[in-house]
Amino acid sequence: MIRSAATENSRFEIASDVVVLRDFVEADRFDFLEWAASDGVMYKYMTFRFDSDDTAEREFERLLHHPSRAETPRRHYYLAVISLKGSRPSFAGISGFDAHADGSGEFGWYLSSGHWGKGVATAATALLLALGFERLNLPVLKATCDPENAASRRVLERSGLHLVGEVAELVKTWRGPRPRLEFRIGRGEWINRLNALPDA
Ligand SMILES: CC(C)(COP(=O)(O)OP(=O)(O)OC[C@H]1O[C@@H](n2cnc3c(N)ncnc32)[C@H](O)[C@@H]1OP(=O)(O)O)[C@@H](O)C(=O)NCCC(=O)NCCS
Repeated sequence: MIRSAATENSRFEIASDVVVLRDFVEADRFDFLEWAASDGVMYKYMTFRFDSDDTAEREFERLLHHPSRAETPRRHYYLAVISLKGSRPSFAGISGFDAHADGSGEFGWYLSSGHWGKGVATAATALLLALGFERLNLPVLKATCDPENAASRRVLERSGLHLVGEVAELVKTWRGPRPRLEFRIGRGEWINRLNALPDA
């Protein structure tokens, strides 16, 4: 079940039984810094990494006060991922969603390794697809990943996205230029998948 709420000060939140995606709040600062200082395993296939606590602290400030939070209509979401897979809710990482000028939407997630393999990214993807198709009314959503990132690819494919091909240009990452695979799903495909669910 997907729940969503625009809370006070227009704080965005969308949730299921597995995960909550919401705008950052001041109380996330410590968890964010801890996430940013994660072991190298998390960063292996990511394009960016934080080289110091100061850089991570600045990034937290940027996300906390990002001007996109006041946009109408809102086009960019930088969200805390709160896992509900445990005895109490815990900060698992961050997720982003951008509505591009060409009408497509793009998303990604970055979870610390202690939260992997519990279905959190798959559940987060279901929410991000609902955000893009239901709330923002976009015709197509996409995500990219490093060709070696098997977990990421698995999450995208099991969520209904299909491989379009390799992005034409190499992408600049902290470990040098890397190829990227692009995955997409159209609104019609998403609706068909929802209708095919057993409890639809
Ligand atoms: C990619 C990432 C978001 C996946 O998150 P997650 O919460 O562990 O994902 P889920 O638990 O929903 O699903 C992971 C799936 O990948 C599979 N998987 C994991 N590692 C795998 C591997 N090396 N090869 C093949 N499949 C793998 C899991 O078995 C699972 O599939 P299953 O449920 O069918 O068994 C997480 O690993 C992550 O944040 N990694 C670091 C940052 C990153 O790479 N982000 C993506 C940038 S494009």
